[in-house]
Amino acid sequence: MQLPTLGELSFERGDRALVRVDFNVPLTDGHVDDDLRIATALPTIEDLRSRGAAVVTCGHLGRPKGVPDPRCSMAPVAARLGELLDREVPLAPGVVGPATEKLVASLGPGDVAMLENLRFEPGETKDDPELVAQLAKLGDVYVNEAFGASHRVHASIVGPPRTLPSAAGLLLAREVEVLSRLLHDTPRPFLAVLGGAKVSDKLGVIEALLDRCDTILVGGAMAFTFEVARGGAVGDSLVETEMVDTCRRLLDTDRIRIPTDVVAAVDIDADADTRIVPAAAVPEGWKGLDIGPDTADAFSAEVARAATLLWNGPMGVFEVAPFADGTRRVAEAVASCTGFTVVGGGDSAAAIRQMGFADRVDHVSTGGGATLELIEQGDLPGLEALRATRRGGGVRS
Ligand code: 3PG
Ligand code: MG
Repeated sequence: MQLPTLGELSFERGDRALVRVDFNVPLTDGHVDDDLRIATALPTIEDLRSRGAAVVTCGHLGRPKGVPDPRCSMAPVAARLGELLDREVPLAPGVVGPATEKLVASLGPGDVAMLENLRFEPGETKDDPELVAQLAKLGDVYVNEAFGASHRVHASIVGPPRTLPSAAGLLLAREVEVLSRLLHDTPRPFLAVLGGAKVSDKLGVIEALLDRCDTILVGGAMAFTFEVARGGAVGDSLVETEMVDTCRRLLDTDRIRIPTDVVAAVDIDADADTRIVPAAAVPEGWKGLDIGPDTADAFSAEVARAATLLWNGPMGVFEVAPFADGTRRVAEAVASCTGFTVVGGGDSAAAIRQMGFADRVDHVSTGGGATLELIEQGDLPGLEALRATRRGGGVRS
């Protein structure tokens, strides 16, 4: 997919670059827990600075409903970006408006500032033309470095490329380049490993993957809806009853494999008593919370054979020690796989990083929903907007 590149973006020293970032990071007590999404945007910010731009970053944090909410202020994110850049990153008093414009006008070449949470503005999630016009006043050029938010038809994602010369950030371009390799001429066997709670969240991607890959291994709570479709007894495990028929149809393809054994407990508890039981015979009152050791062996053997592998979603409740083994075993197998390996989606990305294997996979995507939607649709609204710019949308006034 041809996107306008950062290198092609021309501007003059002192021009302002409005950079949409995905700094939607986990916070605890007002501090950034995991700065992957900030650190991975640094090369783009540094490139723009080194070419004399004043960089105005804008992003969202959480889901405030169009009104300022101090709990979702970008202040801790601006502080962390400042630490990483080793320079002050002033936070604008708002998203747009005279006071923000004044701050932006005061920036010189190489300076970096941050706008407040875009979702404090009701127009952001509606792609409101008035907000787009106000945002466009804050930049001479626009860069989309928010891969993880590029599936959203939001003002800051699709709006600025209509009027400003625009380009893909370095991280966004790499995400798209790597994930596109899963869409075309993919080396075989192509294996997908999917986990997570709900089949309904992943249905679109499962269907798209069935068209493209050889086998899908399903773990996590969503495996139990498949098990019910196969006629098994799953005790109190999580089941989406309305998805059972769909799962039966998917199993008919013969290319979906589900666990044969699971780790079960009465409650999700660090001190829980656990039992390893057949996935099709979980006792009443017990729920399956991880794949069992036989399944971990079988899944690991499949992973070892893959020439291309996509992993999305943990195999169990890996945050709680008695239910972490299945995810760890899969993470180890993915790390050892000699094929081209991609981990996408917030939880599995967090798992592989926590377990210390992130540098042994080819690509850990910073996107969650965006990664899945790109695989499902082959495109994203934010990428379409950038390509339209190249066709002449972004004429500098
Ligand atoms: C993410 O964290 O997945 C992205 O930043 C998108 O956030 P959203 O799901 O609230 O749009
Ligand atoms: Mg991710």
